Amino acid sequence: MADISINFCGIKSPNPFWLASSPVTNNGEMIQRAFEAGWGGAVWKTLGLEEKTPIVNVSPRIAGMDLEDKKAVALENLEMITDRSLDENLKEIRETKKKYPKNIIIASLMVSNDEASWTEITKRVLDSGADGLELNFGCPHGMPEKGMGAATGKSPSNVEKVCAWVKKVSGKLPVIAKLTPNITDMREPALAAKNGGADALAAINTVQAVIGVDLNTLIPRPTVNGKSALGGMSGPAVKPIALRFITELYLDKRIGLPISGMGGITTWQDAAEFLLMGASGLQVCTAVMHYGYRIVEDLNDGLSNFMDEKGFKTIQEMVGVSAQKISSHAALAREPRPISKIERELCAKCDLCYLGCSDGGHQAITLDKERIPTVDEEKCVGCGLCATICPVENCVTMAYNK
Ligand SMILES: Cc1cc2nc3c(=O)[nH]c(=O)nc-3n(C[C@H](O)[C@H](O)[C@H](O)COP(=O)(O)O)c2cc1C
Repeated sequence: MADISINFCGIKSPNPFWLASSPVTNNGEMIQRAFEAGWGGAVWKTLGLEEKTPIVNVSPRIAGMDLEDKKAVALENLEMITDRSLDENLKEIRETKKKYPKNIIIASLMVSNDEASWTEITKRVLDSGADGLELNFGCPHGMPEKGMGAATGKSPSNVEKVCAWVKKVSGKLPVIAKLTPNITDMREPALAAKNGGADALAAINTVQAVIGVDLNTLIPRPTVNGKSALGGMSGPAVKPIALRFITELYLDKRIGLPISGMGGITTWQDAAEFLLMGASGLQVCTAVMHYGYRIVEDLNDGLSNFMDEKGFKTIQEMVGVSAQKISSHAALAREPRPISKIERELCAKCDLCYLGCSDGGHQAITLDKERIPTVDEEKCVGCGLCATICPVENCVTMAYNK
């Protein structure tokens, strides 16, 4: 059977699945239940210095985007870092680590952009038993006025400075820089983190967004006493954005740091894709908020079975295998082109391939007397739209003529 344990920048975890810093890691009682359910590790809800920056959350702080029948394909949150005291959190980290020595606890940190604050919080966390530190350079709404979160993460020079301040006092604890996707090129802050001494990267934090507008009140959601703010988007809808950034970080040889990947991971298939595109550890938040800790059973079993099927003996063997297949657009072959093939017996006569090809493609599909689509191979450019939108599995495929 495949070995799904990982060694992420020296941190040994029984499996690659860690809970991401968020409400799913709010306190010790929750994290202990998660470890019992099978999570390998947890990145504690971001800690701060409450004497310097007291936290008062707004409510409601979460709103979702639904897609037809599917609830919450994306979430927007307006949540801040922990609103509990640092001492209380550290006490629970200590207790949890004592009870679950084989599971991983990472302390996530975010304070204002000055050396004294970063030094103080790092020193206070050092003897908590945490296995590593994650620096939150990603929260899009968490006190940018104090230079915190994404306000630091958007500035490579600040990222480098903060990593260096923390590394100066973090001793042997690995330091993971968690980066914001609200930037054009994540490789710049990643290189800055490396220059500052970071041992690993984590990506992505939430994507700054407006999830929607309440059409009764005409106020954007989540609506807090008649107003809203730009918040952070997470969940299945951000997965392609996360995979893009992780691929870029992985393929840049100048960076060469391990990546803890997250952003929309819900199923073992998502997890496999993140590993294949270059992540060597994984984190999950929104899927747990939606379905609970128990999803980890499917994540562990599904990934392990997939690895057996594909002949991967370790997670490390999988890392980046598919990223190697990314080339420049210019280098992609123009010939041969595939042609649309439609299985008449499977067709549900929904007309979608015909409508798509007529109004959004190349007018290569016509409907015969029985309303079954037929493809004009001369007109078909092989774009793939019909196969993408057909609701019946294997009814439309793209195939090369021999
Ligand atoms: C309600 C909520 C609160 C969050 N709080 C934090 C936080 O305190 N610190 C942090 O680094 N990330 C925080 N995140 C971001 C997640 O850790 C994660 O980066 C993001 O949600 C993408 O992963 P997902 O799609 O699996 O949720 C939060 C996310 C949500 C939804």
